This record gives sequence, C-alpha cells and structure tokens, in this order.
Amino acid sequence: MSTEIYYFSGTGNSLYVARELQKRIPDSTLIPIISLLHKDIIQTNGKTIGIVFPVHALTIPIAVSRFLKKADMKSSKYVFAIATRGHTIFRGFKKMDKLLKKKNKRLDSHFILNMSVNDPRDKQYKSPVEDDILKLESVVQEKLDLIENIVVNKKISREKDTEYLTGFPYNAVFNYFLEKLVLFGMTLSEYIGGVNYFCSDSKCTECGICEKVCLSQKIKMKDKKPVWQKDVLCYMCYACVNYCPSQSVQINDIPFVKSYTRQNGRYYHPYATVKDISNQKGM
Ligand SMILES: Cc1cc2nc3c(=O)[nH]c(=O)nc-3n(C[C@H](O)[C@H](O)[C@H](O)COP(=O)(O)O)c2cc1C
Ligand code: SF4
Ligand code: SF4
Repeated sequence: MSTEIYYFSGTGNSLYVARELQKRIPDSTLIPIISLLHKDIIQTNGKTIGIVFPVHALTIPIAVSRFLKKADMKSSKYVFAIATRGHTIFRGFKKMDKLLKKKNKRLDSHFILNMSVNDPRDKQYKSPVEDDILKLESVVQEKLDLIENIVVNKKISREKDTEYLTGFPYNAVFNYFLEKLVLFGMTLSEYIGGVNYFCSDSKCTECGICEKVCLSQKIKMKDKKPVWQKDVLCYMCYACVNYCPSQSVQINDIPFVKSYTRQNGRYYHPYATVKDISNQKGM
C-alpha cells in the first residue's frame, strides 16, 4: 500500500515536515509538486496521497491549487493534507476539499503545524532564533507521531481551526471583511502573481542564488543582476527573499501594505539548503 507525499516548500518548513513524515510511514515517497506543474494532467500512483505545503495568505499556495486542478487521483483511496503556518487562521482545507470533490475524492484528514514565519514584510517581524525554532519543532515532532498513527491506519481526522492566532487582533466584523479581502487578493495572485513585487538593492553580490531557488523560474540573471520577469507567474514562495545571502532582495510596498524587509531579518529552515529548494524543480 504505497503512500505518495507531494510537497511544496519555499523555505524548507514544509520540506522538513514532509521528510520527517516520510521517515515514519512505510513504503512512502516524496514528490515535489513544482516538478510536475508543467504537465497537463498529473497522474498519481499512491493508494494514500499526502499534500504538505505552507499557508499563503490564509489559504493554499498558488502551486498547490494548480496541482489539485491537474491531478488525476484515481489511484488514491485516502487523501490527507498538512499545512505549515506562522500565526493566522487557515481557510484552505475547504478549498482543497471542493477541488477534490470534482474528482470524486474527499480530503479525509487534515492537520495544521505551527512553524517559523518566512514572511518578513511586517513592521513587527522578528526572525526566529535557534531556541524559537527548537521549541516549535518539538511540538511538530509530537504532532507528527499522532499524524503517523492517523495516516497509517487511514482514520478520518479533520482538525478544526477555530481560534484566531496573533495575526488578527481586531473585532469579528473587521476580521470577516479583512479575511475576505486577503482571500480575494490571493485569488488575484493566481493570475497576476507578484508582477512588480520584488527588487534587489545595492547589497547584491551577483551570486545568482535567487535565480537557483526561484520555484517559478520568474528570476533570470541578466547582466549579472536578477530580473523578475513580468510575464512569468510568481508562486510567492519567498525563497528569493529569504535565501539571498546579503538580504538584498526586497519586497516592494503594495497598496495598503507597507513592506519592512529593508530593516527586517530573514528565515529559512536550518536543514533546508539552496539545493534542497532548487531540487524541487527537478532540473
Ligand atoms: C506569501 C506568504 C504568505 C503567508 N501567509 C501566511 C498566512 O496567511 N498565515 C500564516 O500563518 N502564515 C503565513 N505565511 C508563513 C508560512 O505559511 C510559514 O512560514 C510556512 O511554514 C512556510 O513554509 P515553507 O518554508 O515550507 O515555505 C506566509 C508566507 C508567505 C511567503
Ligand atoms: S541572491 Fe541576492 S546577492 Fe545573490 S544575485 Fe540574488 S539578489 Fe544578488
Ligand atoms: S520570484 Fe521569489 S517568491 Fe516568486 S517564485 Fe521566484 S523565488 Fe518564489
């Protein structure tokens, strides 16, 4: 009874979770979602299908949405998902279930894991120190033991996400409209995806790492400087922002959202190398 664990990861949190889960589940393989997105139809082979990814703007990343639309999951008898996130509520499992229902499948189980935040735009952002990462990971390890038991025994477990974490300290009505606005922005991103969202500043050392880790291949080095090509969709993975060794990649301000990346630090998972991220492209 094989298990396929499909994953998408910008800075290694979801990759870490996918790897740790693979160690626990017999006869399981890891498959990067990005390596499959060029196909018109993505044929799965596992009897059990797992999907591991980060929360992006309260929902599933663009790449995961595309994967689900293209996936032919006839092989599967059981589907589960794990979202890794920073600090807000997550609304994406319903969307996943809707996409799966079109293929006569259900999201049988789903789970959320709190991990370090890889989005350094906010004024109050603090890049996590080793102690923060270790604390979060000991909880992740405990929860993975539970997930292993549920997945191996094909139990139904749909974790409810009822509390607001620290992201939205406003009142219920405000939260409701803010949530709708953020989700609408994410839908829009699926079509225009970060057209003029990034730039590199004078700290750029022309190393080319941003091009290597760019999961959508939006970044191309031209005259030794990175260029974010306008006609290529961005998956908003923030690998370019976080893996640039000189913190030269900046996020531009967008309407109503000022970016503080110039003064903030960066984060990527300590076990996720540039190679680990770029290998997702399968090139
Ligand atoms: C564009 C973007 C949007 C994000 N939005 C959210 C969010 O709405 N809620 C949240 O809790 N975390 C959010 N995060 C943080 C990530 O979900 C979190 O750090 C995740 O574990 C990163 O996983 P990865 O390293 O596998 O990419 C966001 C990160 C990015 C890059
Ligand atoms: S990773 Fe940073 S330093 Fe290297 S080329 Fe890209 S922007 Fe420049
Ligand atoms: S441009 Fe940056 S955020 Fe967009 S896909 Fe490439 S690496 Fe990820």
